[in-house]
Amino acid sequence: MNVGDERSTSFWMESGPAIEASPLTSDAECDVVVVGSGIAGLSVAYELSRFGRRVIVIDRGRIGRGMTARTTAHLATELDDFYSELIRVRGEDEARLYHDSQVAAVNRIEAICRDEGIDADFARLDGYLFPAREADRADLEEEYQACRSIGVDVEGANKAPVPGIDTGPALRFPNQGRFHPTKYLAGLARAIVANGGELHADTVHVSDKEVDGGVEITTERGVVIRAGAAVFCTNSPTNDKVAIHSKQIPDRTYAIAGRVPKDSAPDALLWDTLEAYHYVRIQPLGDAENLLIVGGEDHRSGEENDMEERFARLEQWTRKRYPSFRSTDYRWSGQVMEPIDFMPFSGRNPGSSNIYVHTGDSGMGITNAVAGSLVILPLILGEDSRYAPLFDPGRKSAALPAATEFVRGQAGAVKNFTEYVRPGDVGSADELAPGEGAVIREGLSKVATYKAEDGTVTRRSAVCTHLGCLVHWNGFEKCWDCPCHGSQFAPGGQVLNGPAVKPLASAD
Ligand code: FES
Repeated sequence: MNVGDERSTSFWMESGPAIEASPLTSDAECDVVVVGSGIAGLSVAYELSRFGRRVIVIDRGRIGRGMTARTTAHLATELDDFYSELIRVRGEDEARLYHDSQVAAVNRIEAICRDEGIDADFARLDGYLFPAREADRADLEEEYQACRSIGVDVEGANKAPVPGIDTGPALRFPNQGRFHPTKYLAGLARAIVANGGELHADTVHVSDKEVDGGVEITTERGVVIRAGAAVFCTNSPTNDKVAIHSKQIPDRTYAIAGRVPKDSAPDALLWDTLEAYHYVRIQPLGDAENLLIVGGEDHRSGEENDMEERFARLEQWTRKRYPSFRSTDYRWSGQVMEPIDFMPFSGRNPGSSNIYVHTGDSGMGITNAVAGSLVILPLILGEDSRYAPLFDPGRKSAALPAATEFVRGQAGAVKNFTEYVRPGDVGSADELAPGEGAVIREGLSKVATYKAEDGTVTRRSAVCTHLGCLVHWNGFEKCWDCPCHGSQFAPGGQVLNGPAVKPLASAD
């Protein structure tokens, strides 16, 4: 199981081809084992396979049905946290290099689509950043100056192309991109297999160790994969206990999608300036219609359970700005790992010789993942990567202002441990409606209690098996979310998303 088994189905999950792969049932050897089969894992595996490396990709669930299938797949080179912020934290030279990595990532996706004949609806288009409030215009001006200072291609526009409102002055970023992520993953998977690689679904990494210049990965079935190197490309790394998890926090984000008449909404990427910003794109559907996809309403994972209100606000926001939006046909959520200094962690795992990791994608999941593959490939080949120091997972954390999202997020992790002594969400399972879950206090214990539609009650320990934070019920996806480092568990306690590798313990 992975997050593809959560309740909602994204448009990408429904419209992209399934990638068939069987579990790994006997010991295996390869040059590189990749854990995780999203855009990061398959990009790394693809690049290595082109250089003749024998790769094995494993995933705890279906191939290509992790968080990548829960994005909205903007291929943006404008940084969602703003280059003005990145310059403040890392300086102009690193901000310039980071922007260069994002341009390289979009170019790489375009080249792979062309070279491998992948029809993933890739298109170049403009991106627009527009102010959510009058007061944000100064932020736009600051971002414009920051972009110009590091050579980002940007220009001022009188307004963004949002049909229902006058946005006021906006920034236009030419040459951004969009594509269909699960069609792209299917194309990568095909190419990896054609290059001699293997993909194994329902194959769960539970432990790893470095041995004799290589790595051994053990799976839940007790199968051992011996490889020269291992690359962990899960949303939140399953190989790491603390080093990287202290430098990123998990956020849930939400998306809705509905059909609109063609040409009623421009084919562009759009973002506003709220901290939990709205993001908009279209996906071509046919001659007469497009799909309008709108995301936003982010919050720290596990800290809110008001998803219906969030979806209602998203729909209201959309109708005002896109009057042709008729009805919401799809609703889904995903998890974004927010890194401390706005850039992902890609490279050699801290303290390891032959273990590599990619995580910390922020809201730039697709481009950061592909940029990560451009870092990890040369490192494994023994070559230099000019992006490697920038993305180094062991880099020192920059001092951040106390108001940043990251600092507030870390405070949330500390607060979580105070819940051990607080009452439960409800007094007993009798108070639960069918299909709902809640944490119940039983003496000194907290029990994650789920009542199925047929009334059957499942009880698991509410203590996350990663580092012991308490999980919270997610009523929309029908799963348990851990606010600390992003683990997610099925109602019955099975792991859907790391860093946890063990299910919630029995409460009986
Ligand atoms: Fe780390 Fe739950 S994910 S304690």
